Amino acid sequence: MSTRIGILTGGGDCPGLNGVIRAVTLHARQTYGWEVVGIHNGFEGLYDEEYIELTAHSVQHSLPRGGTMLGSSNRANPFAYPVKLPDGRVEIHDVSARCMSNLARLDLHGLIVVGGDGSMSFAHKFIQRGATRIVGVPKTIDNDLEATDYTVGFQTAVEVVVDAIDRLHTTAESHERIMIVEVMGRYAGWIALTSGLAGGAHVVLIPEIDYNADRVIEAFHRRHGRGVSYSIAVVAEGAKPRGGALSVVTAGDITRQEKLGGSGMRLAEMIAERTEYEVRTTVLGHIQRGGAPCAFDRELATRFGVKAVELIAEGKFGHVAAVENGHLVAKPMEKAVKKLKLVDPAGELVRTAKGVGIEFGD
Ligand code: F6P
Repeated sequence: MSTRIGILTGGGDCPGLNGVIRAVTLHARQTYGWEVVGIHNGFEGLYDEEYIELTAHSVQHSLPRGGTMLGSSNRANPFAYPVKLPDGRVEIHDVSARCMSNLARLDLHGLIVVGGDGSMSFAHKFIQRGATRIVGVPKTIDNDLEATDYTVGFQTAVEVVVDAIDRLHTTAESHERIMIVEVMGRYAGWIALTSGLAGGAHVVLIPEIDYNADRVIEAFHRRHGRGVSYSIAVVAEGAKPRGGALSVVTAGDITRQEKLGGSGMRLAEMIAERTEYEVRTTVLGHIQRGGAPCAFDRELATRFGVKAVELIAEGKFGHVAAVENGHLVAKPMEKAVKKLKLVDPAGELVRTAKGVGIEFGD
């Protein structure tokens, strides 16, 4: 039988996933003559044994396409999996043993898990339990994986936010309004800070720096004092006022993470309570995750996909493809799961932003 490798995309989707699948398929088939099995919907497909054969034909035209042709699920935790019982009830079971035996039956030379911190931690647990032939490709718009400088999807999300900020600038100015843009990123402020810098925002609120609403309002007053009667504030979904809690829409449980949202409206309400400014809030939501990947993400996806195949060829299992100081490297998977990569409040990016007058409310 010929050599086979597998690939799955887990967790929330993002632009660039198809580029990874394409690069893996082309490199594995053309360079090594390996077959490539795509597993549907992340670890769910491993549980349900839903597979598809990937060929050069099936990945053609996929590089510029958003989403993932394999599907994904962010409720497919094999260690706490919602199993539907015959009577319709749903119970949470550890289905990792069944996934492990399905994986053994697939007889893969290596499995590539394309995922964020959640999927990587499941992959890491499988490795610890003996399914060692796994490598990873880091993806998430949040860019919060410690192992790598960049994750697939992040730059596209930033492009989307910058485009939105550019558009809000003109209407904010026409109507002399304060425009709040709430962006994703979960507990990390990378999207907010990077897009705030690139979009020329006046206020950026990130989870790593709890804000004082009065300081934020003073920044608007200062601009008004200089005769500039509009402002743009980028607010990360995980930003919170000093002493306040996260804005949570849906609480998390053992099967899924909590859902954040409302940080922008909360700031808008505080401004409205304390000032006469006219405030509008835009929540960009999943627009940041949809659509075509930008050039950077297409390139990164291709480099990561080829690297993941190389890791399997070299027998470097338990590693993830990563970017470090501009170079493509391999990092131990533990690095991707141990802790989140957060913005350093005293780091160069924040100092740069402060250097051009961006207010963080601290
Ligand atoms: O992790 C990616 C991400 O888009 C976060 O930025 C956001 O908080 C979350 O996923 C949204 O998840 P869902 O698609 O389940 O609403």
